[in-house]
Amino acid sequence: MTAQRSSGDPGMTLNGQPSSLAGIDPSTNALDFIRDRGFTGAKEGCAEGECGACSIMVLRPDGEGRSRWTAINACLIPALTLDGQEVVTAEGIGTPTDLHPVQREMAVRGGSQCGYCTPGFICSMAAEYYRPDRAAGGHDCAEHGANGFDLHSLSGNLCRCTGYRPIRDAAYALGDADPSDERVTRLATAAPAGAATQVEHEFGRFVRPTTLAEAIEILQREPDAMIVAGSTDWGVDVNIKGARAGLVVAIDRLAEMRGLEFTDEFVEIGAALTLSEVERLLDGRVPLLAQLFPQFASRLIRNGGTIGGNLGTGSPIGDTPPALLALEAVLVLTGPAGDREVPLADYFTGYRQTVRAKDELIRAIRIPLPLSGLTAFHKIAKRRFDDISSVAVGLALEIEGGVEGGIVRKARIGLGGVAATPIRATATEQALVGKPWTAQTAAEAAEVLGREGTPMDDHRASADYRAATLRTALPKLFAETTQEVAS
Ligand SMILES: Cc1cc2nc3c(=O)[nH]c(=O)nc-3n(C[C@H](O)[C@H](O)[C@H](O)COP(=O)(O)OP(=O)(O)OC[C@H]3O[C@@H](n4cnc5c(N)ncnc54)[C@H](O)[C@@H]3O)c2cc1C
Ligand code: FES
Ligand code: FES
Repeated sequence: MTAQRSSGDPGMTLNGQPSSLAGIDPSTNALDFIRDRGFTGAKEGCAEGECGACSIMVLRPDGEGRSRWTAINACLIPALTLDGQEVVTAEGIGTPTDLHPVQREMAVRGGSQCGYCTPGFICSMAAEYYRPDRAAGGHDCAEHGANGFDLHSLSGNLCRCTGYRPIRDAAYALGDADPSDERVTRLATAAPAGAATQVEHEFGRFVRPTTLAEAIEILQREPDAMIVAGSTDWGVDVNIKGARAGLVVAIDRLAEMRGLEFTDEFVEIGAALTLSEVERLLDGRVPLLAQLFPQFASRLIRNGGTIGGNLGTGSPIGDTPPALLALEAVLVLTGPAGDREVPLADYFTGYRQTVRAKDELIRAIRIPLPLSGLTAFHKIAKRRFDDISSVAVGLALEIEGGVEGGIVRKARIGLGGVAATPIRATATEQALVGKPWTAQTAAEAAEVLGREGTPMDDHRASADYRAATLRTALPKLFAETTQEVAS
């Protein structure tokens, strides 16, 4: 089941067999490609990353020379991004005469009725079944089974008719994977690297450079090229808004943008790491981000979307900017002249506008150390999971003398959804510094926070609602910290 790439033609290994990508144009998504090859289990429900009916498994590197089966949304990625990769669909997981344990449990526990969503659930569930640390990290709680199964792995899969309880029953009934299962043995060795893809098609070109220098050279030559990382934003534009690019440059596998390193002064996070990879590699060492990750979209989106892509959009409602503003993050932009550092607070210049030049990439994000002692991320959205923020607040406070009545020495607050760009709540920060951390201080500063930004009415929330939610952030943080002390 090793990936094959013959005679320079692009191609993937699909359910164990070579599948040529020759003649495929850059806007054809992986779902259409796979279905056209006869694997029609994966479905199109929404074409915008919301339903998971299109979920497939791809082998991804774990950063330590081994691999992980990773479920992603096939509807969002150009098929050409899978050049050289190993891909498995529900048909490749098991067959009607030889059901995989995941398929068997879904069948016998009534986890499928109309079946439209089922192949997608099977892929997400199988990826979690094969997660190497599943059993070891197993704990029985509201969102994990005693078998270590993390229900969040299914947070990007919607089912309209069965109801989720039988699906959860199936997930929680799974045993450990058989060590001789070929998908388990495959995890011990490296996943395929990103292939050096170059495709010219009458409807556009697709290039995957293999070095950062090559990528920058291309952008210098062709500044209007579309940079694509995880394609969770770009895929929606292609499918729903009909966006097309003359040249797509895929940057998500560039090694120079995929490291994560702690130094004495900062932690540097490679911009091309997916949100799931950052979450796993940080392993809770940046508590503010640890709070954010479970609230960011779904596991399927976090498996594809990168942290750099979240900043690359320049969106005022991205989730990482408020958190990274509170953490005083600095972006490392790489262009023809090399690296330059830009504090995130200076990066956004207007609605979806930034200081990044067209021939620059966000290479990494640096978070200064040490971190502030009291941090929190509050996201207000219409749904708990898989939804974009109406308002997001990142909070980082340094309190001298402990959270009960100690003095606020430093405050950094990042806001999303209340202005044309993510912003720092500087007036509130000033209102907090030098004050004792008490309910009264939190209430007074909350009034200042409610007046920050220029919130608007839109389909997600009214301006009044946004201001009202801002006013809740500090009292909520105060209540949380004092409850922690009391317990
Ligand atoms: C169903 C769904 C739910 C979502 N939920 C959330 C959510 O809860 N919170 C949230 O914040 N976002 C959410 N998103 C948006 C999206 O997933 C994120 O913005 C994600 O981080 C984008 O990363 P990507 O790698 O997929 O970006 P891409 O789509 O590949 O690129 C996005 C933009 O960034 C640019 N870009 C990418 N990488 C770089 C780089 N290194 N340097 C310079 N420019 C770059 C691209 O040119 C493009 O303009 C959601 C999207 C979907 C489809
Ligand atoms: S078709 Fe709905 S997430 Fe892909
Ligand atoms: S079984 Fe019908 S949508 Fe899930």
